[in-house]
Amino acid sequence: MRIAITGGKGMLGRTLRRRLAGHELMVADLPEVDILDLKGLTAAFNEFSPDVVVHCAAMTKVDDCETKDELAFRLNGTGSANVAYACSKCGSRLIAISTDYVFSGDLEDGKEWRETDAPSPRTIYGASKLAGEKAVHEILPSAVVMRTAWLYGAGGPSFVHTMAKLGAQEGEPLKVVDDQRGNPTSADAVAGAVEFLLGHPEVGGVVHATCEGVCTWCDFAKEIFRLLGLKRAIVPCTTVEFPRPAPRPANSALAKTVLAKLGFAMPRWQDALADFARREFRIEF
Ligand SMILES: NC(=O)c1ccc[n+]([C@@H]2O[C@H](COP(=O)([O-])OP(=O)(O)OC[C@H]3O[C@@H](n4cnc5c(N)ncnc54)[C@H](OP(=O)(O)O)[C@@H]3O)[C@@H](O)[C@H]2O)c1
Repeated sequence: MRIAITGGKGMLGRTLRRRLAGHELMVADLPEVDILDLKGLTAAFNEFSPDVVVHCAAMTKVDDCETKDELAFRLNGTGSANVAYACSKCGSRLIAISTDYVFSGDLEDGKEWRETDAPSPRTIYGASKLAGEKAVHEILPSAVVMRTAWLYGAGGPSFVHTMAKLGAQEGEPLKVVDDQRGNPTSADAVAGAVEFLLGHPEVGGVVHATCEGVCTWCDFAKEIFRLLGLKRAIVPCTTVEFPRPAPRPANSALAKTVLAKLGFAMPRWQDALADFARREFRIEF
């Protein structure tokens, strides 16, 4: 297949390029391709003529989006609309990557957000990504919007890389938030779900793709430390003790209803993390 990856130089984009290396790939990232330049984007897609576009380009710094809201809506909203429009002109299928932040996070422990649940973002990042989702489906109703969460991948930056660095430093016990729940997810697992959907051209709509299992950031940090043999102490703290410009969802766990119906299972988060740690930090266990 001919596959274009917007944001192909980013964390998920780089993993997709490795995973899909057997296909003909086009990296649509800055400075060569700007998703805000509709004319240039359409010309680039016209020239490459992709069968599928995986749209990863985005403004992903959640806290920055709060202060740069105009830019966030331009990139995540208008940029996604441009990608969908360019796909419609070239007859390309679109898989657009989105986020758990489209949900409020107000959900009882033990419950998960389904693809059919109504989004209600609390942050500019979430609202701008939701604007992108809506634009994508308005312009290209057959497109897949694939939501993922708590992502880490080769080279980072990610929570895993931050914890690996902080865990190796001496100092006070590390405080990690223990009242926010979600699904830690490897970019490789998301790339696996994308690869699976390449073989299912009939699938459209919203598809959740996070690793299986739910934990808190504190649980996630403890597992990273255990895998990497880091001895620094971790102490649980609350969201209130660790304020951030953009409010974080308390429970953003995603149910993989659509993938499950198709018979595709995402890996358990602990297994995906162990696999990643082995490759990224070259450790044997
Ligand atoms: N990271 C997470 O935890 C997470 C969680 C859930 C969902 N997601 C979603 O997953 C997708 C991929 O995330 P990621 O973590 O891989 O993001 P990332 O590392 O920030 O990669 C995004 C890429 O898009 C590029 N880009 C920015 N503006 C562009 C433009 N105008 N035209 C073309 N390319 C542009 C960026 O280039 P520059 O670096 O030069 O700006 C970067 O290479 C995003 O849609 C994100 O919303 C991420």
